[in-house]
Amino acid sequence: MEKLMIRGGRPLCGTVQISGAKNSAVALVPAALLAESEVVLDNLPIISDVAVYSEILQELGAVVKRDGDMMRIDPSKLSSKPMPNGKVKLLRASYYLMGAMLGRFGEAMIGLPGGCNFEPRPIDQHIKGFEALGATVTNEHGSIRISAKQLRGAKIYLDVASVGATINIMLAASRAQGLTIIENAAKEPEIIDVATLLNAMGAKIKGAGTETIRIEGVARLHGCRHSIIPDRIQAGTYMIAAAATRGDVLIDNVIPKHLEAMTAKLEEMGVQVIEMDESIRIVGGPGYSSIDVKALVYPGFPTDLQSPMTTLLTQAKGVSILTDYVYGTRFKHVPELARMGANIRVEGRSAVIEGGKLNAAKVRAADLRAGAALVVAALTVEEGITEISGVEYIDRGYDNLVENLRRLGADVWRETDLDSSS
Ligand code: EPU
Repeated sequence: MEKLMIRGGRPLCGTVQISGAKNSAVALVPAALLAESEVVLDNLPIISDVAVYSEILQELGAVVKRDGDMMRIDPSKLSSKPMPNGKVKLLRASYYLMGAMLGRFGEAMIGLPGGCNFEPRPIDQHIKGFEALGATVTNEHGSIRISAKQLRGAKIYLDVASVGATINIMLAASRAQGLTIIENAAKEPEIIDVATLLNAMGAKIKGAGTETIRIEGVARLHGCRHSIIPDRIQAGTYMIAAAATRGDVLIDNVIPKHLEAMTAKLEEMGVQVIEMDESIRIVGGPGYSSIDVKALVYPGFPTDLQSPMTTLLTQAKGVSILTDYVYGTRFKHVPELARMGANIRVEGRSAVIEGGKLNAAKVRAADLRAGAALVVAALTVEEGITEISGVEYIDRGYDNLVENLRRLGADVWRETDLDSSS
């Protein structure tokens, strides 16, 4: 295991290139399994979640070739195998294998997903969707077995606008017989990205990005080439880091529209945000105002930026309140920020944050975005070195983090975490 060492206090300055979106990539890679010939994905992020996925695909018989940010997936020799354990347990997004394998083979047997367990994350809406399509779903010793003689289109109303359930149902329904309509679908940009890939593979999906998605099932899907959208959460994290260090950073390869909620909140605090066609420049200032933030489903402020935003709010004058309406207990970063001197109180699903300086400490990332919150915090600390363990969580979602931060002038490096082996 490794840890991140950060000597903070330097304003981040320069340009950072944003990679393809993690939460698209982890759906697009399994979506490729529905094709019967080669799918090429461009602008793929170099993160451990994608590396694990590519190993899972090879175990299933797909031929996977990776060259930088490009991946070729040939699923023509794919076979249906049970995946009760092993790598599927390392990933939250391994649940997309359920929809993909069900669509391709009419069956799937897969262990319950792992990944960032910041709170119980049920998959009842995914299962409800598969059952509505005519599949039988049983839980066998911690694995989910799903099978259907013939998937049939259906009208499915989601109780919560779940990203994962919307995508999983799109995957399976694209090979069902007849029309599927998903109501109260999630509207995140990653849903549109998956629908764009599936349509390029020959699927007939309309309405992705709205609350009603219509999927006319087709008998076969074929290979294609697709470029993944930029990672809005990675971009938002650099926006936050630039503001928190009072820096001046051009964040390149982004879709500014995907970051509107983030931009609005930064401007409300007094951060200068300059939007261009495919980039955003953040110019930090000496003092920021406290604000209230509500994390909601898209196009609201993203829950995945709630943790690093908590850190930024420690840099504002006065008391800010950040409420997460998507995940009510996603606050594992709070006790670690407190070790660094932050004055934060969790009340129900809100964090009440009083501005103040942070100090260096030894802290632990308990999940991916909690890790991002700690990195931003460490960058603001004026004296001493902050040690962040649990880097494996951060590596799940941030492409080239250390190199990017160094290019922006940060003093950051990796060391072996001797404590983690004890
Ligand atoms: N929910 C249910 N039942 C379900 C599914 C979801 O009750 O069957 C609830 C969840 O408990 C949560 C809400 O619905 O309260 C939203 O969950 P959603 O299904 O949208 O989340 P997800 O698909 O499991 C994805 C991202 C998360 C991101 C959320 C919300 C991936 C692989 N993960 O998770 O990303 O927080 O959407 O936007 O796409 C991250 O990147 O750090 C991360 C955790």
